[in-house]
Formats: sequence, C-alpha cells, structure tokens
Amino acid sequence: MFDPVSFSDGKIAEMRETVGDAKAIIACSGGVDSMVSAAIASRALGDNLLAVYVDTGLMRKGETDEVRGMMGDAGLNHRIIDASAEFFKALSGVEDPEAKRKIIGELFIRVFEREAKGFGAGFLVQGTIAPDVIESGSVKSHHNVGGLPEKMGLKLCEPLIDLYKEEVRAVGRHLGVKSSERQPFPGPALAVRCLGEVTPEKIAIVREACHIVEEEISKAATDGRMALPWQYFAVLLPTRSVGVVKGSRAYGMTVVVRAVESTDAMTARHSRIPLDVLDAISRRITGSVPDVTRVVYDVTDKPPGTIEWE
Ligand code: XMP
Repeated sequence: MFDPVSFSDGKIAEMRETVGDAKAIIACSGGVDSMVSAAIASRALGDNLLAVYVDTGLMRKGETDEVRGMMGDAGLNHRIIDASAEFFKALSGVEDPEAKRKIIGELFIRVFEREAKGFGAGFLVQGTIAPDVIESGSVKSHHNVGGLPEKMGLKLCEPLIDLYKEEVRAVGRHLGVKSSERQPFPGPALAVRCLGEVTPEKIAIVREACHIVEEEISKAATDGRMALPWQYFAVLLPTRSVGVVKGSRAYGMTVVVRAVESTDAMTARHSRIPLDVLDAISRRITGSVPDVTRVVYDVTDKPPGTIEWE
C-alpha cells in the first residue's frame, strides 16, 4: 500500500543528500506533477530551489495568475517570466503545425536555460511520472524540457518517476499542495488551437472562446445537465465565412467547439452535449467575442480525428 508520508520524507531526504549545497531549478506549469515535485524539492533545498513559470502568451484565461498564486501559497522561491513577446515574434508568419510546435519547444528551452544559468543551477528537477516514460517518443514530449540536462550539464532529479497520477495526488494532499484542477492541456498551449499563423489577436479570441466553452460546460455539468467531458475547448479556424453583423454581410471568423469523452486520450468519443448548452455557447461567443460570426460543433471521434486540431 502506497504511503505518501514515508514516500515524501524519503524523497526529501534523498534530494537533500543528492543536491547538497548546489542549486536546482524546476519549470512549473501549475499542473499537479510539477507542483508536487517543486514542493518536495523546496522542502529539501529551501531557497536553493528556483521554480520558474514561463508565460508564453499562449496560456488560458487567468492561468498565469492562478499559477502565481499557487507558487506563492506553496512558499516556493519562484519567478514568472513574461516571454510572450519573444514567442509571438518567433511564431510570426509560421503556419505549419509541426514547425509551430518545434519553435515553441525550442524557445521554451532557451528561456528556461537563461534562467537556470542566471541562478547558477546545477540540478534540474522534473515532474516526470511513470506514464510519461511509457509514452515518451510521442508528440507529448515536445513541451517537456527534454534534452536540456545533457546540453547544459545539469543533473536530473525526478522524484515522481515511479508514481502514477493517483499516488502523485496523494503526495500532493499530504504536502498541502494546491495545483490546477483544470482539464488536460497541451504543452504548445493555445497555439495548437489557433490554426495557421499565431498572432496575439487570434490568441486573444481563442482564449476567450475557450473560457466561454469551459464556463458554460462546467455550469451545465454542475447543474446535472451533462457529465463533465474529458476535454472541452474551442478552436479558431484560419478561414473566414460569411455572416451578418448589424444588418450587413460580414466576413467573420469561425470557432469550433470540441468536447470529448476519454479515459487516456488514446481514443475518444465526441461528447453528446445537450443542444441548449451548445446554443448558449454559440450565442455567448458570437455575442461577445469580436470578429467571430460562426460557431460549429465537431462530432468526430478519435480515431480518425485527434482531440486537438493541430
Ligand atoms: P491528440 O490531439 O493527439 O491529443 O488526440 C491527445 C492528448 O494529448 C494532448 N496533447 C498534448 N499534450 N503536449 C502535451 O503535453 C503536446 O504537445 C500535446 N498535443 C496534444 C491533447 O490535449 C490530448 O489530451
């Protein structure tokens, strides 16, 4: 039987021993894996640990503030790096989905590397858990700081590498860690939900549309009108379609609503969202998000579709 108390005590002592008087750095996303790893490392190393959150400008509504609060509450020595201008510049004019992912992954590493050097870190703490190792080699590895330790001569500490999600959550509860309870979210963030070129304006639109989808669906789930899907979000298409705005024909943007049921993201079934919930989402998006004149619902399962659109 897994015991979070002895596990945490053991890992804290082990990390203290391994790292000694050196410094360590961790990239925190706000998710449970990175927050629990940071909590263990911070108990072992105190201010010799630096927790870094990179704001790529591609995050969900309120996400940066939420993570800032969590890192503060956890008493972590932390820094929030606003790198959004760098990310938008690097993504300017890039339409190919794989190129976008690559640029985001590489820039993330560069920004993080800068912080690690500035702090004088000798160790990199990562929130890798057992399923990550099993899945490595898949597209998911893109958002991790993979390849970084070798390149920088950093030694790797992965306190959660033998654990599964439920065990990580148990350790988190024991250590009093608050982490984001939000649905799974891809590493390249809203960039893969903004088809084609990424611009600050388009990201602002998809961010607001995602927020509306999240709010309306979680409200419907709380009211017992539907079950909470595995993932539910909006995607902004790169093509315009004809709409009517204030009595005139206008060429507006199209937002896709995507919601799926899944247990492991390997396969998925589109959610049977009640029509009145879809209707509320559509009206709210077209009524409040500038330039969007059409909302459609994606009824594709995985396979053949994927969950994300890029
Ligand atoms: P797809 O779109 O391939 O996604 O059906 C499967 C699951 O993985 C998430 N996803 C990612 N997660 N980095 C991540 O950490 C990524 O680059 C990435 N791409 C997709 C997606 O949200 C879904 O949960």
